[in-house]
Amino acid sequence: MVLRTEALKKYYGKDPNTVKALDGVDLAIQEGEFVAVFGTSGSGKSTLLHMLGGWIRRQAARSLSAARIFRE
Ligand SMILES: Nc1ncnc2c1ncn2[C@@H]1O[C@H](COP(=O)(O)OP(=O)(O)OP(=O)(O)O)[C@@H](O)[C@H]1O
Ligand SMILES: [Mg+2]
Repeated sequence: MVLRTEALKKYYGKDPNTVKALDGVDLAIQEGEFVAVFGTSGSGKSTLLHMLGGWIRRQAARSLSAARIFRE
C-alpha cells in the first residue's frame, strides 16, 4: 500500500452554509498503480488532490475526526 485514506472529509464554510466537498473518501492506491480522478465540476477533485498533497490544513476534530491519510 502506498497511499490510503479512510473516511476523508473536507467541509468548507460554516453552518448553515457548509459545503461538503469531500464526505467520507476511502481510497487505496498501490505502488505502480496509475490512478485518474474524474467527476463533474465541483465534485471535489482538486480538494482531494490538495489534501493528498498536504496542502490543506487539517480541520477541527469534528469534521476530520475519522480521517487519516497514510503514507507507507
Ligand atoms: N476555498 C473554498 N471555499 C469554499 N468552497 C470551496 C472552496 N474550494 C472549493 N470549494 C467548493 O468545494 C466543492 C468542490 O470543489 P473542487 O474545486 O474540489 O471541485 P473540482 O472537482 O476540482 O471542480 P473543477 O472540475 O471545476 O475543477 C465545490 O462545491 C466548490 O465550490
Ligand atoms: Mg478542480
